[in-house]
Amino acid sequence: VKRITVPDIAGRKGGEPIVCLTAYDAPMAALLDPHCDVLLVGDSLGMAVHGLPNTVGVTLEMMILHGQAVMRGARRAMVVVDMPFGSYEGGKEVAYANCVRVMKETGAQAVKLETSIEMAEIVAFLVKRGIPVMGHVGLRPQAILAEGGFKAKGRTESERDRVLAEARAVAEAGAFCIVIEGVAESLAREITETIDAPTIGIGASAACDGQVLVVNDMLGMFDWTPKFVRKYADLRTEIDRAAAAFASDVKTRRFPAEVETYFSKKPASQ
Ligand code: KIV
Ligand code: NA
Repeated sequence: VKRITVPDIAGRKGGEPIVCLTAYDAPMAALLDPHCDVLLVGDSLGMAVHGLPNTVGVTLEMMILHGQAVMRGARRAMVVVDMPFGSYEGGKEVAYANCVRVMKETGAQAVKLETSIEMAEIVAFLVKRGIPVMGHVGLRPQAILAEGGFKAKGRTESERDRVLAEARAVAEAGAFCIVIEGVAESLAREITETIDAPTIGIGASAACDGQVLVVNDMLGMFDWTPKFVRKYADLRTEIDRAAAAFASDVKTRRFPAEVETYFSKKPASQ
């Protein structure tokens, strides 16, 4: 199987919508791979896998470990690894060294950075040195502590202008693709029509060149999901039902049954 490349994705502008889901481990990556163009090892793994309250505590080591696992499961999809909070904002050289580490140690095709205007310079530095960068504008989850919570972006005129300027700056810096998160349809449409790089939306309407969801959200594994999530399965209910049934069977000795039990062979006659 030939793996989808960065130029393949960059070339999807205005074409068939890009299909992207997050993945954090090898078996899930293998299940999603036949259906996805891009598998994103998102720092949402902080919540989805590690029980953290937000993405701020996610480390480079965690991203590398999960990136390696996803690469073992994915065959055809392009794999992109999120750079975690604190690993790229401090300066070009630090960002470069950490991105190189992620690419060398995971084998992933690209990295994703949450990108404000100030980040554009760092993105340009990375891209010029051969690192494929996916941008991320609009709602930026790594800024949760600075912002005191999450709200959709671009609802006021000045915020709209800022998010559009961010997308422009990051695209001009050479990002091959940009995730737009949590913005109104009109702004997502304007960004998508303005920049040459394809846009991948999450809570950003159907106007984008592709869509991404957190896999745990779309499988119904969280007790709460935002408005923009569509649940394609209800695994929470399924897992609860399965665990309850197992517990009941163990307590009433209906599990294991004979078919699930090993028996010793008749001892050979001496
Ligand atoms: O961490 C993540 O899962 C993400 C996507 C939701 C875009 O950044
Ligand atoms: Na992320």
